[in-house]
Amino acid sequence: MTIGVGLLGLGTVGAGVAAILLGPEGRHPLVAELELKRVAVRDPARARPLALDPALLTSNAEAVVDDPAVEIVVELIGGLEPARSLILRAIAAGKPVVTANKAVIARYGEEIAAAAAEQGVYVLIEAAVGGGIPIIEPLKQSLGGNRIQRVSGIINGTTNYILSRMADEGAAYGDVLADAQRLGYAEADPAADVQGGDAADKIAILAGLAYGGAVPRSAIATEGIDRLQARDVAYAAQLGFVVKLVATAERLGDGVEEPGAAIPLDVRVHPTLLPKHHPLAGVHGVNNAILVEGDPVGQVMFYGPGAGAGPTASAVVADILNIAGIRRATGNQAGAPLDPLLAASSWRRCRLVDGSTSRHRNYVRLQTRDQAGVIGRIGTCFGDAGVSIQSIVQFEGQGDGIEAGGAEIVVITHEVEEGRFRAALAAIEALTEVEAVAACLRTL
Ligand code: HSE
Repeated sequence: MTIGVGLLGLGTVGAGVAAILLGPEGRHPLVAELELKRVAVRDPARARPLALDPALLTSNAEAVVDDPAVEIVVELIGGLEPARSLILRAIAAGKPVVTANKAVIARYGEEIAAAAAEQGVYVLIEAAVGGGIPIIEPLKQSLGGNRIQRVSGIINGTTNYILSRMADEGAAYGDVLADAQRLGYAEADPAADVQGGDAADKIAILAGLAYGGAVPRSAIATEGIDRLQARDVAYAAQLGFVVKLVATAERLGDGVEEPGAAIPLDVRVHPTLLPKHHPLAGVHGVNNAILVEGDPVGQVMFYGPGAGAGPTASAVVADILNIAGIRRATGNQAGAPLDPLLAASSWRRCRLVDGSTSRHRNYVRLQTRDQAGVIGRIGTCFGDAGVSIQSIVQFEGQGDGIEAGGAEIVVITHEVEEGRFRAALAAIEALTEVEAVAACLRTL
């Protein structure tokens, strides 16, 4: 007996999933038991390269969800609506769901999880983060015995491609973005990628799983790469750093809270200077990587292609197989008790801390007058605020943006509370010799 699969969406990833289901040879035998029953597409009449029976296609996504032959619903439409409603409709009908939709899960994950728990169905989301990289199931299951200290990652391939080229070629952000759009690596509207929203969706999901409770997506401090200047990438390189868009979720405190207390988390996305020897520093191009730090496992890193038809379809089909395997093991009984690890039920509450209390190193680029005593006065401002300087370097002006007789000074601080650092910057900005705080980036 086969297991009926209904596909919502036949775009890049949907076509990748269909190709696997239509070509089971050489794969796990359970793949051959999956049968594509119906596929929702925008235009059923459009010619497609896949050897797909045209009778399976419909423009009515609800009909796919409702079809009695469809036992597992695979949502690959993307966007918030109608994707969210279709997921909830499938759950209400008692059908398990597989989705790659990070935007929906990051915002409506709690609502969807509650509905799924009530109906006793799984909603699996391996493809929502990191494309083909297995990271969701490892966090839920393989690392389940750990207290997770930190999850940090490069989880947006578009921005990593742009940053890699800026570093390699000294190119300007706008030029590389235009090139990436021409080559099809970046969307025509790149806002979600370059402004950090896509990475924020993904770290919200990873944090929720790593720490066992939902993380409010709208409270995640998010800064993209769209204001990053080529000269900061170049100066960072001269100082031994690479600039990456890093998404981080870090547990504060000792990790053992009072029963019922919410766990304090610092969750954020921003361009970050990584020391060249940092495990994430060597992740280039459109690749993604997620570094998980836990007790007692230590550091484990997951690396690979973060997007694309084949890699994302690999993750989607893994989820379908997980559900199919359970159905086989339980004799296809609907309503069998859920495995709490696979279902990823929340088991505590999380709260996001005020960012001004987080501690980190900083990179600051100042445009100043080039005259005696300037570096001394900048150093005094940092010292008065209790900020320790690791290095302070004056770079030769590059012409653009620097007044004649001006200088460019780059400071790297030691680790310091954000509030103290901001106080020092305010004092520095008030110095008459300082023309501008031209860039300010966090440093690991
Ligand atoms: N737009 C994403 C990226 C891929 O550039 O990584 C899908 O999550």
